[in-house]
Amino acid sequence: MILPSFRLDGCIAVVTGAGSGMGRAFSIALAHAGADVVITELPGREANACETAEEARAAGHRVLTVPLDVTQTASIHEMVNRVLAEWGRIDILVNNAGVNILQYAVDVTEEAWNFIVDTDLKGLFFCSQAVARHIIQRGGRGKIINIASQVGLVGYEQRPVYCAAKGGVVNLTRVLALEWAPYRINVNAVAPTVVRTPLVEKLLQDKAVLEDTLRRIPLGRVAEVDDITGAVVFLASPASDFVTGHTLVVDGGWTAM
Ligand SMILES: NC(=O)c1ccc[n+]([C@@H]2O[C@H](COP(=O)([O-])OP(=O)(O)OC[C@H]3O[C@@H](n4cnc5c(N)ncnc54)[C@H](O)[C@@H]3O)[C@@H](O)[C@H]2O)c1
Repeated sequence: MILPSFRLDGCIAVVTGAGSGMGRAFSIALAHAGADVVITELPGREANACETAEEARAAGHRVLTVPLDVTQTASIHEMVNRVLAEWGRIDILVNNAGVNILQYAVDVTEEAWNFIVDTDLKGLFFCSQAVARHIIQRGGRGKIINIASQVGLVGYEQRPVYCAAKGGVVNLTRVLALEWAPYRINVNAVAPTVVRTPLVEKLLQDKAVLEDTLRRIPLGRVAEVDDITGAVVFLASPASDFVTGHTLVVDGGWTAM
């Protein structure tokens, strides 16, 4: 038996929202697995992108930082064109950029709906489309990894729009996997539980919220970013070549209850 490869040497990976939290951790992990990494981040957050880039560079591979607002299709096309101009190809896309606003359904505004859906679902779709068009044009073979959430699989109060968007990501992942399988583009998702990042850090400082969260996680703790990186590296690597349309849940058992 030969151990399948988890290495990404020679691959070019793009990570969205890479200046913070999980996006930063994914970028560094992909670099350590051997990939050249494109750190993309919102214009105005260059300092965050640079911090990620510095850490990723320590792995010894090429790192490029490119501004990207996933809610703007023009920005997506500019990012893809820039990567192709500088490095010539894209093999892996990690659709990580995401936002949330905690609100009960009766309080949700149209503005909040658009902000969350445009980033978490529409942006993810058009990034995938732009990268898939390039991969198809150059003859196929690539990996797209969508960062969904456990709440794309189960309901959670005060997150109606986020749950809808992440549920959309889970099912969109299946459709893209079907459409792009002939081009050997694997499309999968990762559904993390609550992960200690800037997105939820403040929330977790509330003792009642933390207690409620821990009660829902059989493994008895919230996740750290390093709990999630293995799933992304696996789905980016040759070890997952026959996995597509799947959502890999990394939730400490939350959805097993
Ligand atoms: N932290 C959690 O508990 C948790 C759990 C499950 C899923 N997720 C998902 O994981 C992903 C990463 O979240 P995180 O916790 O690291 O959050 P984070 O806030 O630390 O990072 C999100 C990143 O996305 C970037 N971003 C936001 N809007 C953008 C846009 N329009 N274009 C480009 N980039 C944009 C931000 O600048 C930031 O760097 C998100 O998709 C989130 O929904 C988070």
